[in-house]
Amino acid sequence: MAGPLAARLRAALGDGAVLSDPSDIAGYAEDWRHLYRGQPLAVVRPSTVEQTAATVRICAGAGAPVVPQGGNTSMVGGATPSGDGTAVVLSLERLRAIRAIDLVAMTMTVEAGLTLRQAQEAAEAAGLLLPLSIGSEGSAQIGGVLATNAGGNNTLRFGNAREMVLGLEVVLADGTVWDGLRQLHKDNTGYSLRQLFVGSEGTLGVITAAVLRLQPGVTGRIAAFCALPSVDAALVLLNRLRAWDAAGLHAFEYMSGQSLDLVLRHIEGAQRPVAGSDHYVLIELATGGDAAALAGLESGLEGLLAAAMEEGAIADAALSRSEAQRLAFRRLREEHSEAQKRAGASIKNDVSVPIAAIPELLRAAEAACIAAVPGIRVAPFGHLGDGNIHLNLVQPEAAEAAGFLARSDELMHVVNTVVRDLGGSFSAEHGVGRLKTGLMEEWRGGPELRLMRAIKAAIDPAGIFNPGVIFPPG
Ligand code: MLT
Ligand code: ZN
Repeated sequence: MAGPLAARLRAALGDGAVLSDPSDIAGYAEDWRHLYRGQPLAVVRPSTVEQTAATVRICAGAGAPVVPQGGNTSMVGGATPSGDGTAVVLSLERLRAIRAIDLVAMTMTVEAGLTLRQAQEAAEAAGLLLPLSIGSEGSAQIGGVLATNAGGNNTLRFGNAREMVLGLEVVLADGTVWDGLRQLHKDNTGYSLRQLFVGSEGTLGVITAAVLRLQPGVTGRIAAFCALPSVDAALVLLNRLRAWDAAGLHAFEYMSGQSLDLVLRHIEGAQRPVAGSDHYVLIELATGGDAAALAGLESGLEGLLAAAMEEGAIADAALSRSEAQRLAFRRLREEHSEAQKRAGASIKNDVSVPIAAIPELLRAAEAACIAAVPGIRVAPFGHLGDGNIHLNLVQPEAAEAAGFLARSDELMHVVNTVVRDLGGSFSAEHGVGRLKTGLMEEWRGGPELRLMRAIKAAIDPAGIFNPGVIFPPG
């Protein structure tokens, strides 16, 4: 029974825009990791910004919480409604126009429901590059990507989502539309309000459109898959690559032997392109030049890898000789989340430390986790080039999933103790969501959390947007 609020929403937006049948709303009620199952009062799918604003106005008038939702790919339950049947999920999926691409300013203005991949493809068709790349880009939508300040594979070269945002359009808590879709590369006029909404995880407003900064287009890419004798060797290799071609280096991704083995075991057609090892990296380089530039990149990388091999910094390496091979290397990296999901229950630790501390992080965290749970599969991988490792823990082969998951908090604490000692963060790119609110007081308590609470109270005084996310209860 959805009640009078759903009826009011239907009257304002039309029947097709409001779902309340349990079978229609099931997919919006649960996160993809199956960690949280909520019970929304209704799911609203506006087709225009005005309808989005009307939804917020009506919900605010009824005191109903609003949970903005994009592709529902959160790793931390950030877009799942509560289970008490009071919240309205506001899905942006129908708001997916490309409003403009400006070749001179090198920007694109896109609506929140466009998937990241659709936005990348539109930029590419215009000869430009939207340099944000994450595993879930086929489903993740621009609004969610910005609301969570997504990171991904190209952060070492282009920064996080935040760095790409020049302007935003946002529906505020009273239903006002803030049109901040400025295309300016410089705009020093007081507080940067758009940056408040980026990374706010839907707790301050509903992003409906954005102006994104693009980069010159890429005409060719190559990749190398390397087996390394140690993680320390990965840092040596990273420095060599940067010294040689920092602008061309778009990704430097780490995979532990344990983690790649899960991909080889659980992902159809996955094949290791180099000799077996405990440590691997995937290197991606790109150029906007002609065929000769690409050939130069390829021979330069080949020379660099050969020299590194001679010095013992690399045990084995394979260079992509075709686009199909490059994509196959990339798939070996992108399928880690899926492989871990198929391998059983897993606990995700999306952590970052200063890059030089990564070897120590991996050694200390692995030893501490094995001491706590003998047989645990410590399967780290991730964005080594920017200091962000997914220090994921997969249940021991014979263990029972529920029993392992019951130890989540304890095992996250084991990892986070090491992270903290190394000056890191407990959430590098996935956000806080519902999953990590319990850590906020300990890690961000004091002036930081006080300021965050003050900002929340000023922008969303009635607390209608995404309650239960970011802030610890109370
Ligand atoms: C990735 O980089 O593949 C995801 O952010 C990681 C994860 O599954 O923890
Ligand atoms: Zn990641």
